[in-house]
Amino acid sequence: MTDKANTTTAPATTTATATATNKSPLAAYDLTHRTAFVTGAASGIGRATAVLLAQAGATVHCADRDEPGLKQTVALIAREGGAAHAHPLDVTDRAALATAVRAAGPLHVMAAVAGIMHTSSVLETRDEDLDRVLAVNFKGVLYACQEAARSMIAAGVPGSIVTMASGAMDTAGPGLLCYSVTKAAVVQLTKTLATEAGRHGIRVNAVAPGWIRTPMTDRHEPAAQEQAEAAMIRHSPLGRVGEAEDIAHAVLHLASDASAFTTGQILRPNGGVAMPW
Ligand SMILES: NC(=O)c1ccc[n+]([C@@H]2O[C@H](COP(=O)([O-])OP(=O)(O)OC[C@H]3O[C@@H](n4cnc5c(N)ncnc54)[C@H](O)[C@@H]3O)[C@@H](O)[C@H]2O)c1
Repeated sequence: MTDKANTTTAPATTTATATATNKSPLAAYDLTHRTAFVTGAASGIGRATAVLLAQAGATVHCADRDEPGLKQTVALIAREGGAAHAHPLDVTDRAALATAVRAAGPLHVMAAVAGIMHTSSVLETRDEDLDRVLAVNFKGVLYACQEAARSMIAAGVPGSIVTMASGAMDTAGPGLLCYSVTKAAVVQLTKTLATEAGRHGIRVNAVAPGWIRTPMTDRHEPAAQEQAEAAMIRHSPLGRVGEAEDIAHAVLHLASDASAFTTGQILRPNGGVAMPW
């Protein structure tokens, strides 16, 4: 069930003004009195993002199709004294997403994180594969961006929208056609919306992570996991794979006033490597 709407409204300042009047540099990361909406919040990067935004002070609306996972995320945030609400929904359902965003009240932050992996060679890719990955990874992000921008414009909030791309869009890899095409499309959506929403004070940026240890990259077998991670580590100057929290911090930066002059950008937290294929 969707929780009751949170109707906390924006501080009546622009992000630049808020930054200028705050004494501590860390105050730019403070999301107190702000409302954030995170899709894909039941797992991995989405969960870490929801938890971190709540730790930064935001009331966080968590959306995902995985209802038990969603409840765990909300419980995690509540246990730390944060405020969170669950919205079980499928991001490909435009009406459900619109209803949930409306219920959340004026948004300051949208983090559109939900996504799926799909691998098939070009020759084996079927219409239904492409349609499914496009629906979740591109249309789901498009709907989230549209609803967030509408909410921010209607309330006069100079908010921040953060989308989730992938290092896979920077290069080609066997089997990754559908996935990488949708992530490239997310980047074009991000840049285009940034050009259109800037006049409302709304910033739109993407995060394009490298290989991050989450259920999406879980090989379900220790030897296979070690082999997959070793390949990534070999190509990283930092000598490790990423954790969900690494990406959550990138999202917090883009969601907060710390990035008040940043829009239409792609942030690549990838340990110094794009994708080593
Ligand atoms: N893990 C990585 O290495 C990596 C790298 C680059 C980009 N990404 C991107 O980061 C995002 C999060 O990935 P993750 O690694 O945390 O994966 P994950 O599988 O742990 O989390 C994805 C979440 O999205 C939800 N989801 C999927 N389809 C949905 C739908 N139709 N409606 C609602 N919710 C849906 C899932 O239930 C899950 O909770 C994805 O967009 C992914 O493409 C991940």
